[in-house]
Amino acid sequence: MKILIDDANIESIKELYAVYPVDGVTTNPTILKKAGRPPYEVLKEIRAFIGYNDLHVQVVGDTPDIMLQEAARIHKELGSYTFIKVPTTPEGLQVMRAIKNAGGRVTATAIYTPMQLFWAAKAGADYAAPYVNRIDNLSGNGIASVQTMQDILENHGFMTKILGASFKNVQQVQALAAYGCAAATVSPDVLHQMLKNDSVTLAVQAFVDDFHSLAGEGRSMADI
Ligand code: G3P
Repeated sequence: MKILIDDANIESIKELYAVYPVDGVTTNPTILKKAGRPPYEVLKEIRAFIGYNDLHVQVVGDTPDIMLQEAARIHKELGSYTFIKVPTTPEGLQVMRAIKNAGGRVTATAIYTPMQLFWAAKAGADYAAPYVNRIDNLSGNGIASVQTMQDILENHGFMTKILGASFKNVQQVQALAAYGCAAATVSPDVLHQMLKNDSVTLAVQAFVDDFHSLAGEGRSMADI
C-alpha cells in the first residue's frame, strides 16, 4: 500500500520523509492555502525534494477548458508525470478522459459515493480518492463505502486504484490497508499517531532501564 503525505508544508514533508518510507505527496487548494505561499513556489519545492515520487495537484476551474489549461500548466511546472486531481463531477469526467487520452495521469477526487468512483474508473482515472472521514460525517460509513468501491474495481477489472483520503484516525487507514486498498494519503498528525503510543514508549524504556542496570548507566550494546 502506498502511503502519501496529505500536506504542503515542506519542513513537515522533509521530517516525515526522514522517518517514514512514504511514497509521495498529495495537495488540494485547502492544503495549499494552509501552507500560505504562492502555489507553484511551494509545489516546485516539494517536487524538487521528492523527485519522481508521486505528486498530486488539484485543478479548480469551473469548466473543462479551464481545467485542461490548468493541467497543462501543472505539467509544465511540475513534470508531465504529476497526477492531476480532478473533482468527480460531470465537468471533471470530461477532463479526466481528455487527460488520459493525451497520456497524462489522473486522480479522481472529492469522491463520496461508489457510483462516483464507478464513473471515474470508466473515465480511466489512475487513482480515485474517496473521503473516508467526510463520509462518516455525513452519517455514512466511510470504511464500508470504500470497501464497496474496492469491490467494484476488482469485480469489473478496472485498472483504477483507490487512494483513500480524509482520515481522522489510524483505524480508518488500517481498515483500508487490511482490505487491500492500493494507497492512502494521510495528514502528518495521523501519520505520527501510527507509531507513537504510550505502550510502545513504556516497553522501550523498560528494556533500556534493564540494560543500564545490567551494564551501567548510559551504556549500549556498542560500548560494553
Ligand atoms: O486531499 C483531500 C482530503 O484528504 C481531504 O481531507 O481532512 O479535508 O477531509 P479532509
